[in-house]
Amino acid sequence: MPLLIRNGRLITATDDYLADIFCAGETITRIEPAIDPKTLPAGTEVIDATGKYVFPGFIDPHVHIYLPFMGTLAADDYASASRAALAGGTTTLIEMICPGPTDAPWEAFELWRAKAKDLAAVDYTFHMSVVRFEDHVRDQFRKIVGAGVASFKVFLAYKGALNLSDEHLFAAMKLARELGVIVTAHCENADAIDALQKSSLAAGHTGPEWHGPSRPPVVEADGVHHLCAFAELLGTHVYTVHTSCDAAVRAGLAARYRGVNVWIESVIPHFVLDESYAARPDFEGAKYVMSPPLRHTANQEVLWNGVKSRAISTVATDHAPFRFREQKEMGRTAFTLIPNGIPSVQERVDLMHTYGVCAERLDLHALVDACSTQAARLFGLYPRKGAIRIGSDADLVVYDPAFRGTFSKAESHSNVDYNAYEGWQRIGRASVVTVRGAVQARDGKFVGTIGRGQFLAREPTH
Ligand code: URP
Ligand code: ZN
Ligand code: ZN
Repeated sequence: MPLLIRNGRLITATDDYLADIFCAGETITRIEPAIDPKTLPAGTEVIDATGKYVFPGFIDPHVHIYLPFMGTLAADDYASASRAALAGGTTTLIEMICPGPTDAPWEAFELWRAKAKDLAAVDYTFHMSVVRFEDHVRDQFRKIVGAGVASFKVFLAYKGALNLSDEHLFAAMKLARELGVIVTAHCENADAIDALQKSSLAAGHTGPEWHGPSRPPVVEADGVHHLCAFAELLGTHVYTVHTSCDAAVRAGLAARYRGVNVWIESVIPHFVLDESYAARPDFEGAKYVMSPPLRHTANQEVLWNGVKSRAISTVATDHAPFRFREQKEMGRTAFTLIPNGIPSVQERVDLMHTYGVCAERLDLHALVDACSTQAARLFGLYPRKGAIRIGSDADLVVYDPAFRGTFSKAESHSNVDYNAYEGWQRIGRASVVTVRGAVQARDGKFVGTIGRGQFLAREPTH
């Protein structure tokens, strides 16, 4: 159905102006100061956005939905993750394909795609993890890039699981350079963590509060430096995911000043939660175990200022949902067995608005840039996504900045049994969310169609 959004304050990464938007079919076809309703087709749905912002649909460039990890399976599927994303204003997800070391990459791609196909209500694409890189799988990665997955993911962490040897990392980054695809990377030194975890457990330090000390900032900074050294040698474009602390951001920026093509992602938990959460009593800290771990509060201002200054390009979630009761519980006797992850796909934009914009740490343009436009640019989706332009997909968020509420599990659509931000003050809410011109969420409720989401094939970006 044709759609008119009237009287909104359009806010993009660069602009802020009052206008009406008309969408015929799946794209934006008119943006004008005041569209005369008499010029519109019969049956046009009209949304009054008076007093509200209109943002381009938000993009989360780092989520896990189907994720076999640490002896269990993440709790969401595409239906629950889409509902959660849409309720929070996110219209595009980029999921990590994370196969096991013995799985064939092409089969993994097909499996992940099948998981999304009938259940996604947002548009989606993938980063392809390279967890091994022998010569005989090389052609499969070429084929996956040819099928529209124009980014790799590598793990410098998780020894014995997803971690890639240096020999394979170098070869994978070389191929990425040749194909023009960007390499996204989890940067923490796997061997250092393994040694620190072993000595921690040997000393009887088994609780969730010991997760952080086993992965200190220097371990992450070392990973970022290592990735960037290979990128410097090869010319590969790289993107450090969930960059959590001052030391790691500095390592990325130092490489950028040397001429390395490196972009920095941070994720919302690191902006608003600190290491004290993982030390909560009665194993409650397990809810807050993720990697890299939550850090000392001093790092939070570095992240906010990084977004404000654009030193940090994107704010994602690293949504990795594991239930507290059955899944986090697996690590009751040893923190090394707690499935890592803090689900946040529904809360990201409202947290950025409440604790970033309303706390005067950021302006609205920085929010849109970090949560939508930069991801679209870096991953080959712009200007189809991440923009409010004629011809762009009509992925739009009519956002009510006057809304006041709290974050709570009761309102969350994810299949996890807790909300890491339970009871926190919340300012703002997505009142209407569209994906390619169809309303998919209203006031935190899913009103759309499961299965409507489309796979976004992407071209290499450089
Ligand atoms: O704790 C995290 N980050 N869990 C998901 C896997 C990953 O490292 O991204
Ligand atoms: Zn990671
Ligand atoms: Zn992740």
